[in-house]
This record gives sequence, C-alpha cells and structure tokens, in this order.
Amino acid sequence: MVSSVAISSALAIAALIAWKALVPNYKTSSKSGRDGESKSVLITGYSEGSIGAALAHAFHAHGYIVFATARRISNIPARLQDLSRIHALELNVTDQTSINRAVTDITRHVDGKGLDVLVNSAGTMLSGLKLVHVDIDQVGKQCFEVNVWGPLRMMQAFSALLVKASEKDNGNATVVNLGSIIGEIWFAYQPLYAASKAALHTISESMRLELAPFRIRVLAVVVDAVQSNLQRNQPRFHANSDSFYAPIQEKIRDFVEGVVPHSETPTEDFAEQVVRDVEMGKEGKVWRGQGVWLIWFLGTIMPTRVSDWVFSAMKGLSGLRRVREASGSGTRKAGWSEKLEKWLEVLA
Ligand SMILES: NC(=O)c1ccc[n+]([C@@H]2O[C@H](COP(=O)([O-])OP(=O)(O)OC[C@H]3O[C@@H](n4cnc5c(N)ncnc54)[C@H](OP(=O)(O)O)[C@@H]3O)[C@@H](O)[C@H]2O)c1
Repeated sequence: MVSSVAISSALAIAALIAWKALVPNYKTSSKSGRDGESKSVLITGYSEGSIGAALAHAFHAHGYIVFATARRISNIPARLQDLSRIHALELNVTDQTSINRAVTDITRHVDGKGLDVLVNSAGTMLSGLKLVHVDIDQVGKQCFEVNVWGPLRMMQAFSALLVKASEKDNGNATVVNLGSIIGEIWFAYQPLYAASKAALHTISESMRLELAPFRIRVLAVVVDAVQSNLQRNQPRFHANSDSFYAPIQEKIRDFVEGVVPHSETPTEDFAEQVVRDVEMGKEGKVWRGQGVWLIWFLGTIMPTRVSDWVFSAMKGLSGLRRVREASGSGTRKAGWSEKLEKWLEVLA
C-alpha cells in the first residue's frame, strides 16, 4: 500500500517535471501581427555565418520587414542590403549612442506602426577561464556588457516601439533573447559566459512578467550547439604555466579550441525553428539546438552529484584531483568510480 502511494507520487512528480520542461508557455492561436501588413523584426549580431544572419534570412523569408544590425555595417553584405524589406543598420549593443541612433532610424522607417519583434542575438563567448585567475575588469565586465547589459539596453530602448506594435488591432509584440544551456547547468571553464547567460535568462523571465500587461511576450531560447562562428570568435586560449591547472592545460585547450568533436544543428534549421516559435506565440524558456535534451536531463532530472561527477571527469578536473592526491599521499589502488572517471575522460 505504502509503496504504491510512493510510486504514484514519484510518477506524478516526474510527470510534472517533464510537463514543465517539455511544454513551455505558449499560445497556439497567435500568428501575431496585423492582417495584410508585414510585421517588422530587429535582429542584433549580423555577421556571415552567425545565428543573427540566419535569423534575418528566415524572418525575411516569412515576409517580415527586417532590420539587420551589425556592430560594423561592413559585416552585412551589399547583396543583402539590396533586397526589399531588409534594412541594414550599424548597432553596437554596448554603446547607448549607437542604440539610440537605431531607435531614431527604425522609428522613422516603421512610421508609427511600432516594432513587432526584437531579437537579441549578439553575444560573445569566453572559454578556458578559471575563476581563480579571471581578469574581472578586462574580461569579465566586457562579457556582461555584451551578453547582459546589451540585451537589457535594447529592450529598454525599443520598449516604446514594441508597445506601439502590440497596441495595433490587439496584436502582440515579442522579445527573443538568445540564452544558452550553459546558463542552466554547471560546466567548468566557462564561468563568466555561463553567469552572463544565467543572468539573461533571469532578466528574460522577469521581463516576461513585467511586459505581459502590454501584450509583449518574452522568449528566452536556451541554445546548445548550433553552427556559427561563436567558438572561432572567442579570445585565443593562453596556457598559464604557473597556474594550479598546469597539469591539465592541454585538456582545457582541446575543449576551448573545439578539438573535442561534437555535432551541431545547421544554423538555418535553428533559425527556422525560432521563427516558428515566435509565430506560435511561445514565451518563457524553450530549449533549442543539438544535444539540449541530454543537458536538460543531466541538469534537471539527475542529482547534481551525478552531473558534477560526469562533467568533472570529462573536463579533466577529476584527473587533476587524482594528480594532486597522488603527489600528497603516494600511489593508491584505483576504485571502480576512479576507473569509470578515466573511461569518461578518454570518451571526452
Ligand atoms: N552557436 C551556438 O552553439 C550557441 C550556443 C549557445 C548560445 N548561443 C548564443 O547565440 C547568440 C548568437 O551567437 P552565434 O552562435 O551566432 O555566434 P557568432 O557567430 O559569434 O555571432 C555573434 C554575433 O554577435 C556580434 N556581436 C558581438 N559583440 C557585439 C556588440 N557589442 N554589438 C553588436 N554585435 C555584437 C558579433 O559581431 P562581430 O562579427 O562583429 O564580432 C556576431 O555577429 C549568442 O548570444 C550566443 O551566446 C550560441
């Protein structure tokens, strides 16, 4: 009797967790916008090969007026600027003057109709950092400038245009923030990038509540492994020979420089999915990209001890612990968990 109650409760809890993760908030009736009129979208972070570029093309293919923005206008090819319904603008998300200029330009273009969708895609990744060595002023603050304050500045600056779009014929406006799985789970060596994405997720969710009365939806896309230049664009890894981590520098370098092979979702497929999410009126968090389900499972369902153990082995931290233990207490016989760790290290 007791065990059947316990099993039923466990099943009910598991079903609730799965429901929350698998069925994000959305309203299928949406297809927001005004009949017969093109909707408008502003996308940050356009560069050839980036998610921002793929999103610009995908929204354009769906009939949107697209404001494609890049921090250097030369990032946007001339052939794109010749297309109808695409407007190329220079916009640096860390520079308020640049953002204000874009607000003025776009306000003129949309001529009182407002902005239907704002996509914050611009972002920067930092890997290979160890928190004990990180340069807060040079590296840490810049990461937050682009990944956290940038999207927030954009949402603040464009809020009036978003509200205006939502007021038309009982429409809706949408803000899309590109987050990351790393903001939902603990990995080593990407602490500041992870913290910036976790902050962005939290800002998105609070903003979703605060903007709901104005019929503005906020969607945080929890992204994993999509083809782009993200890995290549990050600063080069510098091994630090006097670091505590010297024995595993090669392992960290392989991780940072992408030597560890992994599959990625094609950028166009990902962009198409995001456009679909917006068109369906989704809001809250959605998980998109290659491998998100594994990470979701490890981060949400599995006990933290298990994910800590798996990731520590894969990222060389268990090996480092063994090196330090061996130097302190001589050689020991490896137990089963140590053998498993070594197996995971080879696998990674
Ligand atoms: N690809 C993935 O697997 C993945 C996974 C998780 C999260 N994400 C997120 O997805 C978003 C798009 O990244 P991506 O994969 O397309 O990487 P990407 O190819 O490196 O593109 C990033 C874009 O952001 C732009 N950017 C950087 N700083 C900027 C600034 N201050 N102002 C305006 N633009 C700026 C870059 O411009 P420049 O070319 O001038 O540097 C580039 O166009 C990012 O927020 C990233 O964190 C991607």
